[in-house]
Amino acid sequence: MRTLKDLSDISGKRVILRCDLNVPLDGSRITDDGRIIASVPTIQSLVSKGAKVIIVSHLGRPDGNVEPKYSLEPVAKRLGELLGKNVAFATDTIGLSAETAVSVLDSGEVLILENLRFNAGETAKNDDEREAFAKALANFGDLVVSDGFGVVHRKQASVYDLEKLLPSYAGLLIERELNVLQGLTTNPERPYSVVLGGSKVSDKLGVIDHLLPRVDSILIGGGMVFTFLAALGHKVGASLLEVDQIETCRGYLARADELGVKVILPTDIVVADKFAADAQFAVTSAESIEESPFGASGLGLDIGPDSARAFAEVILSSKTVFWNGPMGVFEFENFSNGTKVVADALAKVDGLSVVGGGDSAAAVRALGFPDDDFSHISTGGGASLEFLEGKAMPGLEVLQ
Ligand code: 3PG
Ligand code: MG
Repeated sequence: MRTLKDLSDISGKRVILRCDLNVPLDGSRITDDGRIIASVPTIQSLVSKGAKVIIVSHLGRPDGNVEPKYSLEPVAKRLGELLGKNVAFATDTIGLSAETAVSVLDSGEVLILENLRFNAGETAKNDDEREAFAKALANFGDLVVSDGFGVVHRKQASVYDLEKLLPSYAGLLIERELNVLQGLTTNPERPYSVVLGGSKVSDKLGVIDHLLPRVDSILIGGGMVFTFLAALGHKVGASLLEVDQIETCRGYLARADELGVKVILPTDIVVADKFAADAQFAVTSAESIEESPFGASGLGLDIGPDSARAFAEVILSSKTVFWNGPMGVFEFENFSNGTKVVADALAKVDGLSVVGGGDSAAAVRALGFPDDDFSHISTGGGASLEFLEGKAMPGLEVLQ
């Protein structure tokens, strides 16, 4: 892969830097700036070499429409604070504002263009449409540095087509992510455990399928648990359930048995009367969720305390752990215990501990864990899962 080390003199050159600055926002307040912080080393490296740095990113999924709530303006402001220098902002991506801002940019200065996905060409399925947008972007630069690890699994104009049009290089974040994630796929130290959570089984099918023959244990929490419990024949009340995945889950459990891999499901569940921070709740056995005081209308919002303890034990005895997806609705205090206990165990692992993904990264930060409690917090959710699945990723292939 071509990296910054392959770049010779870039002083005065216009460098288009593709970052993933897709951060969670509450109005215009950034609730987790992890992805902005992770982008800083590459930006600083380019600035120190005297490049004119033109940053492009997406935020949210505005689907080709200009939606002010997805503006990158708050991100430009936060980046300026982190860099301790002015960051210019263009109010469009390839229009007059962008053109003007690029033309007045000096060596060592930084500019952010407005959200790439305000333009339909960025995410177009049609190759010509994407390429036309990439060409318009390419006019602004002499070369491209691709550093948005969180989006390398997408075949999108700024991730793939642009990199074909100009000389392109991977940035420091992509290099770092790949170094760590390769530790999970190439001779990981054993025991190797993978903790999966989050709401949907269907998002995790590929990774479960791929990891089953490669790990010692898979621990399952979060909303996806209930489809597994249903696969075992248990009733799950009003909990999240993907009926069309029950058979698939049953197949995974059978295959795990054959392979001697442990699929560890929670034995107790925190069941609530509604989806709310102030919901009534009770702990029940995972096998009898409908026997809680809330009957068939109860919904599971966290793994129970016994399960959390059991998960922690497996995690602590592992040498390699990858975690993607919260164990419960951690945003609500009463349903955050499972996620907290898992994060705490992960922080104490004597070995490689990797937190993958948007939600899990936001969870550990929201729960107050410092980033350096873990070997690595990936900036990629879907991207880190696809990496573990061994899938080819367009945004990486194009840099080979
Ligand atoms: C993410 O947050 O998953 C990445 O920024 C990619 O965004 P996307 O899932 O909307 O393509
Ligand atoms: Mg995503």
